[in-house]
Amino acid sequence: MSVQQLFPPGGQSRALHGLYLNNGLHRLAPENEIFIYANYIASLDGRIATLSDDGHEFVVPASIANPRDWRLYQELAAQSDIMLTSARYFRQQAKGCSQDLLSLGREENSTDLIMWRQQQGLQPQPDVLVISASLDIPPEQLRCLNDRQVLIATCTASDGARRAFFERQGYPVLLAGDVRVDGALLRRKLCERGYRSAYMVAGPEVHHTLLAAGALDALFLTTHLGLLGGEAFHTITYGALLQSTQLQLESLYLDQQPDSSQLFARYAIRYAAAGPEMLALNVVE
Ligand SMILES: NC(=O)c1ccc[n+]([C@@H]2O[C@H](COP(=O)([O-])OP(=O)(O)OC[C@H]3O[C@@H](n4cnc5c(N)ncnc54)[C@H](OP(=O)(O)O)[C@@H]3O)[C@@H](O)[C@H]2O)c1
Repeated sequence: MSVQQLFPPGGQSRALHGLYLNNGLHRLAPENEIFIYANYIASLDGRIATLSDDGHEFVVPASIANPRDWRLYQELAAQSDIMLTSARYFRQQAKGCSQDLLSLGREENSTDLIMWRQQQGLQPQPDVLVISASLDIPPEQLRCLNDRQVLIATCTASDGARRAFFERQGYPVLLAGDVRVDGALLRRKLCERGYRSAYMVAGPEVHHTLLAAGALDALFLTTHLGLLGGEAFHTITYGALLQSTQLQLESLYLDQQPDSSQLFARYAIRYAAAGPEMLALNVVE
């Protein structure tokens, strides 16, 4: 069950179990700050989701999802105070199109993560924050998460009656933007609530929301060494980025298996203020 360390160079074989748990992401934020990280699995041609067989929903292709990456996904979840996801995830769940991505320790080989959290002084399950402008969130899906606090982040343009409905149900609503949730405001609201680490597990739109505001600290990216092709797909982000966003490789592991291989990369995200030419380039669609 080992992987080969490629970066930093000179590394040796490392056990898959514990590979990301050792990152200590829940302890990285300076006082009164938060460390926000995202994680994706993509094919070598950059697809994170393709259309389901019935053509109705975008889903993570079964040919790239795999238990070894899933273990690392959960190790990242284990280090979070809160997981950030989208309303669309809950809508997909209500249609039975998405597996449970928010609960730790459901499988026998991940119960150690609940114990690990307890040893670290963390509650058994991370809280959950749902990002939505429409507030079209199936309440019965939120009720499944009755073992932790669920919050909703939305904008002031959202429906006031829906906001009041969710507040009455016990889900605090954070207003973090005018017509869309703004990544920087959201980050501040999370800090104010005392969260120190947040794991973003939504798709390209929420990723863009954080990147555009310079609010994401790190990206974990699994590249599954297969090509998917096709014309309808999602990549890890889209939309203009008003800052020059550079990634710096922090670690890279090769997981070479007889039938399929993958690379596990961790990047730090560095934002540089864009000059006028760069800004002009970025805003042209
Ligand atoms: N391969 C992978 O690792 C991976 C990881 C994550 C997701 N995915 C896939 O990617 C696809 C898309 O995922 P997703 O639907 O979770 O992602 P998304 O594109 O990030 O989220 C879309 C929804 O989030 C809300 N939203 C996003 N940004 C917002 C903002 N700034 N303000 C207000 N609301 C905002 C909106 O909800 P409302 O419509 O309610 O306003 C929007 O419909 C799915 O097929 C998923 O399976 C793949």
